[in-house]
Amino acid sequence: MTNILRKFFGFLLILSAGFIFSSCKETNKNEILVGEYASLTGSEATFGQSSHNGLMLAVEETNSSGGVLGKQIKLITDDTQSKTQEVPTVVQKLINRDKVVAIIGEVASSRSKAGAPICQQAKIPMITPASTNPEVTMIGDYIFRVCFIDPFQATVMSKFAINSMKVKKVALLVDQKNAYSTGLADNFKNVFPSMGGEIIEEQKYSAGDKDFKAQLTSIKAKNPEAIFIPGYYTDVNLIAIQAREIGLTCPLFGSDGWESEKLTEGKAKDALEGSFFSTHVSADDPSPAIQNFIKKYKEKYGSQPDAMAFLSYDAGMILFDAIKKAGDTKGDMIRDQLAKVKDYQGITGLITINKDRNAIKPAVVMEIKDGKFVYKETIAP
Ligand code: PHE
Repeated sequence: MTNILRKFFGFLLILSAGFIFSSCKETNKNEILVGEYASLTGSEATFGQSSHNGLMLAVEETNSSGGVLGKQIKLITDDTQSKTQEVPTVVQKLINRDKVVAIIGEVASSRSKAGAPICQQAKIPMITPASTNPEVTMIGDYIFRVCFIDPFQATVMSKFAINSMKVKKVALLVDQKNAYSTGLADNFKNVFPSMGGEIIEEQKYSAGDKDFKAQLTSIKAKNPEAIFIPGYYTDVNLIAIQAREIGLTCPLFGSDGWESEKLTEGKAKDALEGSFFSTHVSADDPSPAIQNFIKKYKEKYGSQPDAMAFLSYDAGMILFDAIKKAGDTKGDMIRDQLAKVKDYQGITGLITINKDRNAIKPAVVMEIKDGKFVYKETIAP
């Protein structure tokens, strides 16, 4: 055999092996592939870990009760490393290589905004469990969420500041490259003054900064009664510590991005005592659905679930139900069923997807006491 022929047959062999391998992957007729993109590592790692854990419970429960359309759900999870620039590659891989039929993700709004256009273009339905920035679902008719949006969250914290904290002069500290943070700050700037509040100072930071003293010093000079920080827990932890170091004693308050057991780590435990944040669910909620979920979650993972775990469980269950109702895994058929979700009894409450593909739900305000999050009040839409 000539060298050329040998090379040619070698090439054929590799080609056919690859072909057999890839067709095996695609022709597993007993599985429905669902994708998940999540920040499993990096600065918001607890967001991804919690949402993944919650979603896995939904997958396992669904599979053990017979699966969907007679098949088992297979979840393929990819890590965004808490980096927005990683998202396009991850989501493209889920769609083009893994051939998932739908996608759950992300938690952080900026990352959901990076993944959504790819899902929309490929006509693959995407449900974000926890992204609250309004623009996420505006990307297109394949993009859904099972949580409230930030104009509401800003109203909740404005009301809470005026009525419960009894503060009127508030300073803002905003993560300037984070769509969630800037969006929520803009909403707050609209609502809070209309309720009689006044924004006396605004300072900016960038996620990952380590020194916030310059901004905090400018804020201190204005003598605010409270500081609103719509950011994520890793930065808020440092901000709180440094605020106390420079002698700022007023309460801090924020939003769902604060929710992580890491928020109050180290010196932030004392620094955040008596501060407040809004979120989606409280583990103190006595509803049997919530308490049951907490029990299952603790048994499996040995820790307490947070908002993202609850919401991802609901996102998963709603998706699997939509696939059942569609009777098919075609993107447009799943999408049509998601758009019709009405009064779905989730563990986080009744979920109706409105015409903008958002859910309308109450928010809870938590108080930080002794490093723990204690339920304070519920604010209805
Ligand atoms: N709402 C946040 C965002 O849109 C994400 C988040 C939800 C964080 C729930 C914590 C808890 O970026």
